[in-house]
Amino acid sequence: MMESLMRRSKFHVLVFMLFCSWFCYVTASVTYDHKAILVDGKRRILISGSIHYPRSTPQMWPDLIQKAKDGGIDVIQTYVFWNGHEPSPGNYYFEDRFDLVKFIKIVQQAGLYVNLRIGPYVCAEWNFGGFPVWLKYVPGIAFRTDNGPFKAAMQKFTTKIVNMMKAEKLFQTQGGPIIMSQIENEYGPVEWETGAPGKAYTKWAAQMAVGLNTGVPWIMCKQEDAPDPLIDTCNAYYCEKFTPNKNYKPKMWTENWTGWYTDYGSPVPRRPAEDMAFSVARFIQNGGSFVNYYMYHGGTNFGRTSSGLFIATSYEYDAPIDEYGLLNEPKWGHLRDLHKAIKQCEPALVSVDPTLTLLGKGLEAHVFKTSFGACAAFLANYDTTSSRTVKFGNGQYNLPPWSISILPDCKTDVYNTARVGVKSWEKKMTPVNSAFNWLSYNEQPASSSGDDSLTGYALWEQVNVTRDSSDYLWYMTDVNIDSNEGFIKNGQSPVLTAMSAGHVLHVFVNGQLSGTVYGGLKNPKLTFSDSVKLRVGNNKISLLSVSIGLSNVGSHFETWNVGVLGPVTLKGLNEGTRDLSRQKWSYKVGLKGEALNLHTTSGSSSVQWTQGSLVAKKQPLTWYKATFNAPASNDPLALDMTSMGKGEVWINGQSIGRHWPGYIARGSCGSCNYAGYYTDTKCRTNCGEPSQRWYHIPRSWLNPSGNLVVVLEEFGGDPTGISLVKRT
Ligand code: GAL
Repeated sequence: MMESLMRRSKFHVLVFMLFCSWFCYVTASVTYDHKAILVDGKRRILISGSIHYPRSTPQMWPDLIQKAKDGGIDVIQTYVFWNGHEPSPGNYYFEDRFDLVKFIKIVQQAGLYVNLRIGPYVCAEWNFGGFPVWLKYVPGIAFRTDNGPFKAAMQKFTTKIVNMMKAEKLFQTQGGPIIMSQIENEYGPVEWETGAPGKAYTKWAAQMAVGLNTGVPWIMCKQEDAPDPLIDTCNAYYCEKFTPNKNYKPKMWTENWTGWYTDYGSPVPRRPAEDMAFSVARFIQNGGSFVNYYMYHGGTNFGRTSSGLFIATSYEYDAPIDEYGLLNEPKWGHLRDLHKAIKQCEPALVSVDPTLTLLGKGLEAHVFKTSFGACAAFLANYDTTSSRTVKFGNGQYNLPPWSISILPDCKTDVYNTARVGVKSWEKKMTPVNSAFNWLSYNEQPASSSGDDSLTGYALWEQVNVTRDSSDYLWYMTDVNIDSNEGFIKNGQSPVLTAMSAGHVLHVFVNGQLSGTVYGGLKNPKLTFSDSVKLRVGNNKISLLSVSIGLSNVGSHFETWNVGVLGPVTLKGLNEGTRDLSRQKWSYKVGLKGEALNLHTTSGSSSVQWTQGSLVAKKQPLTWYKATFNAPASNDPLALDMTSMGKGEVWINGQSIGRHWPGYIARGSCGSCNYAGYYTDTKCRTNCGEPSQRWYHIPRSWLNPSGNLVVVLEEFGGDPTGISLVKRT
């Protein structure tokens, strides 16, 4: 009896397994309709958050993703960063911070979905918009248009990524977490400028993507004419008015900006939690079903990954999780509560379109009432200054200014976007006990010599020479001054003028710094013009041109120049003005300290370092090094670099990014009032202070003791002012 029962139940299990393997396989699907994305046939309201894997460390990923999950996030959105993955043609890298598969698997383990924005153009304030620099030098190439070499390279990389995801079974239809992919990024406005070849490129990109058969939908953001079956989506601070280009596509918001990026010299942008919540509730009440926070965790532009728009190393973005991986309260908690309220409404939201009732001037009710008895209502007050009480159903509801109340049963007000029930946390940067014992190495400015190999009778564009292997390029020339030059006798100095396409220029004459100039986010170009001390005979002019990453946005940004393009002139000579632009120039890529690998333990022992009271202070082009022990607790760490100028910092050989306090002009800040449309000019803080003071040191880059910190300082700073701080 027992035996036959067991045999029978085994048989049932077998039948079930067979059935399930077939049934479960065919039902794993992601589709869409006018209302929403359907996962396994079920419409979903999806809350998504951007976390870019290379902007944190693999050790931080599980915690960030868990915090996103706890905050009510369903989907993690990330770009794929081509230049990180293919540093030279055909040479791929998917390790460490660029271990894309590992990142996606961690998301999967947490039970969340992925929205993979392959691009491969990503914008993102990332160096060169994600494109590898070698791509610019593919013969005949023009980026992001109907151009054969570009399309071939784009298709090759996109295919590579898709195949990699397939091989790891990461698409939802294979049992993985990826429910959606993106091709291109905000191409709509570029297409508008480009005309016919732009249109042809859009069509091609869409067809190419669809042809890769991922099994899940593709989206194109900010692309009004996204060809079927691709879904066009919205990126903005507010997207309630957005409608997709076909009524059988869902209303999706791929970038709801939680703040904005910081650029050197500008205040840090903020966006209040109340306004964030308001924008999301407003989108959902107008039929939206997918919202992504750009960024949910912004992180850090480590190394030289930030782009040439003077983008700071910190990419904190005022995101719900701060740069260091701590909760940014009250934003994180206020949005978590919002997500709970929205999820309570989900059955009604996905079932019907809302009906709109005007409750008064600037007062609206959006009601989702289903035939099966579910009902959800959103009550909105658009007045930016006064609270209003409205009658709805049998109840009365008080609505603060610029707010929306959510009633998941059409009766109970469970959440209002302006009522924050979460405490804000004060973020503290506390110095930890670690005095650095700095050593210094002063790098001599390069100057032309007889055996220079890189020479020409012209001023060369910087990236053409460096291929972005370094931020630095030396432009060196000689100027001969006759003893009968008038300025020698009358004691006046001639004026050297050098025009550069950007981004920073240090002018050295006979080994002495004569001045430094730099551009800014709005205009990277710069002009140095100042009197210089010249002597009779040969003078060495050395211009150190510095790039701060390459542009990531704008029409054909691949053609934008960097460096000293001239003219370079000397005014005040007997002959009048001497044009130096077409005389002999020598070039040297990078700094000596870079060539010697001074940032590494082995490299740093190749030079003689100065110690004790002789350590250089306020001297340009100086390298500093010290060792320190990791503080015991697990609190996140940073370096306070206020006493320094500009350069780069390495910890145990890994770059934590470029440092540059970038002092902010006083008066460029606005008050941070949530009630009203967020704009660029509002809500900027820390005027008169550095744009970026603290530089994140990932914990996992540290050993318990003997950690090597190396600082390259261009301007001249005081290293004794550098301190190690913990973030609590
Ligand atoms: C968007 C773009 C993003 C990012 C953002 C600004 O337009 O799609 O990649 O650059 O602007 O942070």
